[in-house]
Amino acid sequence: MNTTSEDQLQLNQILSTKALGQRSYFFETAESTNDHAWEKLAEGAPHGTLIVAKEQTQGRGRHGRRWFSPNGGLWCSIILDTSLLPNIQLGQIPLLIGVAITETLKNNFNLNVTLKWPNDLLVNNKKIAGILSESRQIRKSTGNITNNEKRAVVVGIGLNCNIQKENFPNDLQMEPTSILIEKSQQIDIIKLLSDILFSIENWFDVYSNEGFAAIKSAWKQHSGILGEIVKIDTGPDTFSGKVIDIDNTGALLIEEPNGNTKTVIAGDILLSRETY
Ligand code: BTN
Repeated sequence: MNTTSEDQLQLNQILSTKALGQRSYFFETAESTNDHAWEKLAEGAPHGTLIVAKEQTQGRGRHGRRWFSPNGGLWCSIILDTSLLPNIQLGQIPLLIGVAITETLKNNFNLNVTLKWPNDLLVNNKKIAGILSESRQIRKSTGNITNNEKRAVVVGIGLNCNIQKENFPNDLQMEPTSILIEKSQQIDIIKLLSDILFSIENWFDVYSNEGFAAIKSAWKQHSGILGEIVKIDTGPDTFSGKVIDIDNTGALLIEEPNGNTKTVIAGDILLSRETY
């Protein structure tokens, strides 16, 4: 296995983005790359700054869940300055990132990836990747008496690459898979990272030029849940219905058995094949 500085050198040699990953920090072990990203942001790290770890000891998923992050995965976080992405809404970001990663995995490995709202990537209903998008209001000192408020986002990507089936714990919320399991091949994680960064940046450009409509359309093409009957757990509430669309903020639209449409801003989808 390469050292972290070899990884960083390799990335610098092949990266073809304008901003994403142009500044990077590589760690052998990190508690969570998202935490490192927030620290770097507080120190003034610019848009596109990338944090990568070979393994995480406190990797976290959505809703504070543990994220299994041993050697052999792509565990990284990217700092986004949303003021550079005019009009982008927080709920749209994981969908954009999901589309970018899905297309990269399809192009590079011919993997049959589907998207599960809001931010799971599945292969044959097994989870291959997850996205953790965190947002904070940042006070930026301008040197004037007034301070500028801006919103920063850290996007954490967890992608199971070279992990053997028997190495996953069996208490994970969703059955996991990896590129190694699906394709029986060890892959070059840094090359994949470089392609993912390029794809994300490209989708940001698409967003800037065409707005969310283009992302929404791509997301729907890759969605594995559109038209499906699902159970939704919103925390306080669980209900069933048919996934009919996503709206222009990235929220999920569910048609309930009584014909009403519910808008879901946050929650977990529990896949079920039952009809109603
Ligand atoms: C989920 O599906 O719940 C999201 C998982 C996100 C995991 C990644 S791994 C890199 C980054 N650092 C973390 O602690 N979490 C994200």
